[in-house]
Amino acid sequence: MNRKTLFSLIALVSVVAMLAVQCPGPGQPAENKLEIFSWWTGGGEADGLAQMFKIYSQKYPDTEIINATVAGGAGSNAKAVLKTRMLGGDPPDSFQVHAGQEIADWVKADMMEPLDDLYTSEGWDKVFPKDLLDILLVDGHYYSVPVNIHRANVLWYNKQVFTDNNLTAPKTFDDFFTVAGALEAKGITPLALGDNGPWAAVNLFETVLIGTLGQEGYNGLWNGRTSWDDPKVTQALENFKKMLIFVNEDHSALSWDQAAQYVIDGKAGMTIMGDWADGYFVSKGFTGYGWAPAPGNDGIFDMLSDSFGLPKGAKHRDNAINWLKVCGSFEGQEAFNPLKGSIPARTDGGKANYDEYLQSAMKDWASNKLCPSLAHGAAAPEGWVTAATDAIAVFVTKQDVSATQAALAQAAKDAMAQ
Ligand code: GAL
Repeated sequence: MNRKTLFSLIALVSVVAMLAVQCPGPGQPAENKLEIFSWWTGGGEADGLAQMFKIYSQKYPDTEIINATVAGGAGSNAKAVLKTRMLGGDPPDSFQVHAGQEIADWVKADMMEPLDDLYTSEGWDKVFPKDLLDILLVDGHYYSVPVNIHRANVLWYNKQVFTDNNLTAPKTFDDFFTVAGALEAKGITPLALGDNGPWAAVNLFETVLIGTLGQEGYNGLWNGRTSWDDPKVTQALENFKKMLIFVNEDHSALSWDQAAQYVIDGKAGMTIMGDWADGYFVSKGFTGYGWAPAPGNDGIFDMLSDSFGLPKGAKHRDNAINWLKVCGSFEGQEAFNPLKGSIPARTDGGKANYDEYLQSAMKDWASNKLCPSLAHGAAAPEGWVTAATDAIAVFVTKQDVSATQAALAQAAKDAMAQ
């Protein structure tokens, strides 16, 4: 072989090699990556996510995971970023979304892949509880895979503060106001709130709605059986208004976890928040917390579930499917949930190391009556949640009961007309 032929051969081999790198086969990603989009940046939630990444990396060591998080509880900032990316044709490989109607707009826009086949092949249609499967169905199909069950209606308190002041966890609104008054008299903030994302005030308000209307009354708000003009809704707003007297002055500057930190520090006696607060306390090594259902919420589990979906056009689709398999797996859920402060979505889960609170949540999930969370996407479609959140955000500053009730009624009317 002469020199010229040798050089041509080398050139040819290089071009073929380059093309092989640049033109992957069908289903093969251009680069071996996996981009997961979520809002889990706080203590507990970030730790849980890291555990699922660990399991993924053990199974697929060659894949580089891109942890695309946008800080802000309940997705208050992440959802806007996601929208820009989805509409700009740059979807992440998989994104966090609450089980329920939150994904419906993306489904309607034909931007999500149905996951029914995966549900069948992975056996998820048998292993997730019926109540959750019902919530997950959008137009008769599954579009996301749940990793957990969260409870939104928990009152957390600092045990030392309560013991020092001879207090017990309040059960009713009257109890709550008595306890709050006693704490205030001692110069301790009774109720920590961190609503720099207004969803946290909605989370608090939904527990007040449940506590005032009861499970059936509250659930009726989402299917038209309970009118938003009902006097009980007026009463709920009055109760909420009275509660707001007892929150920290800097509430609008704090995030939910900063409010939980007030309870750890003994600056506040209580906070009402979902059980991701359990994950936060655990991540801070804090064990001096007690819990109880929010006032009037005994025997009722205000539920929500985090799930992951597969957008059409995901750049690393095969990797994303493998991610969803980890999300729905026994192993993935057992690694994630004890740190996240949630219980597994799988009915065969709950076998690993769950703390005392989470064990009590498992019992309650199995025996309580269920309510879907408004603030966390289980009760109503996104547009309704946004309108209700706006009304509550105004209420927190202006505290006008009748104007807010009218705004909430209008939000329901608009949503139901769609
Ligand atoms: C919820 C979410 C939880 C937790 C919380 C605070 O919406 O479902 O997993 O992350 O927000 O960020």
